[in-house]
Amino acid sequence: MSGVLTGKNIVLGVTGGIAAYKSADLVSRLKKLDANVYVVMTAHAKAFVSPLTFQSLSQNYVVEDMFEAPRTWDVEHIALAKLADLYVIAPASANVLAKMAAGIADDFLTTTILATQAPILVAPAMNTQMYLSPLTQRNMKTLQDLGVGFVAPGSGRLACGDEGIGKMAEPQQIVDEIVKLLAIESESDLPRLLEGKRVLITAGPTREALDPVRYLTNHSTGKMGYAIAEAAAAMGAETKLVSGPVELSAPEGVQRVKVESARDMFEAVMCDLNYDIIIMTAAVADYRPKTTQTQKIKKVEGDLTLELTRNPDILFEVGKVKTHQVLIGFAAETEHVIEHAAAKLRKKNLDMIVANDVTVAGAGFGSDTNVVTFITSDGVQTAFDQMEKSEVAKAILKKAADLLSEADPVGTS
Ligand code: C5P
Repeated sequence: MSGVLTGKNIVLGVTGGIAAYKSADLVSRLKKLDANVYVVMTAHAKAFVSPLTFQSLSQNYVVEDMFEAPRTWDVEHIALAKLADLYVIAPASANVLAKMAAGIADDFLTTTILATQAPILVAPAMNTQMYLSPLTQRNMKTLQDLGVGFVAPGSGRLACGDEGIGKMAEPQQIVDEIVKLLAIESESDLPRLLEGKRVLITAGPTREALDPVRYLTNHSTGKMGYAIAEAAAAMGAETKLVSGPVELSAPEGVQRVKVESARDMFEAVMCDLNYDIIIMTAAVADYRPKTTQTQKIKKVEGDLTLELTRNPDILFEVGKVKTHQVLIGFAAETEHVIEHAAAKLRKKNLDMIVANDVTVAGAGFGSDTNVVTFITSDGVQTAFDQMEKSEVAKAILKKAADLLSEADPVGTS
């Protein structure tokens, strides 16, 4: 399931309760799914778990004090509230539930809750009598009526020695609820613009074998292509992803074909070009060793020269034979970005090229964000500010859907 929360910003509010230690496990489970986690603690929470624990697990600064935050952290409380895709409060004490129900904002946690427009999910944890108190029950009902989600506590022996309801839900249960909520969110976010369409995407690096144990490759992580595949499926397209070796798992609803070398990728693409939209994000090796040794190459005295030969340019080959397909390529450049990208667009017979300067911070390999310019075959350029790759993916697909309907306004292909 790794990667399912890639690019999602989850703010986790931790309040004062012994269950706070379980939230450390919650953070590490969310990180394993590639979420960005920002922990906010109340003053009481610090009595149970050290902020350093959450800081180390989340790899983000932990905010505790409203007035200290702007000096020590570049994301202020309003910015953090805006950044959140989901606000989770676990454990949620009776006190914080009461403050939320009343709209009180007297510390960093409750202020960000009030300021956020993200969905809110709470995992209550408290003594049984406090949980069953009509006041807490009323506060929870108020919050539920306002759309706040709940992961109900379980029953058992509580830290105070009592037996009964009030134990915080297990971290995995909370994770499951988060994944469910965010999946629904991201789907409802996206118009079903590509219903009934077929989309083909290439992603990741290729590996060009030198011998049975060595290969030539590059730093591509596949994040951009996988984000496009995920968004295409969410927009209703039948989506195929031809992927070089990466660490990511196949997005839901996407048919993934795994390949190793450029020649494997070429074959996997060319075997079926009956797609409406073809988007090539793969960082395909331009060259491969002229011969792949069947045995491990032995060390020799002095230098070793490798002879390389050209790989097929998959995008160029598709451009040569394309008919109705909207064909989109990427141009990762380090200088003269627009000129080089525009030249590639023409040479490869593309409908659009997505140009990015990989030397700019927040763009290129491995990053969760990208800074891109679209250039279409009519020469129109559209430059974007830095965006999450998931947002870049949506923008590309919306543009591709436009290009498709311009080419075939009545949708006959
Ligand atoms: O010419 P350049 O490698 O910069 O072009 C980049 C674009 O071409 C990307 O969309 C990439 O996926 C594609 N490409 C390809 N096959 C290659 C080289 C690049 O499909 N051998």
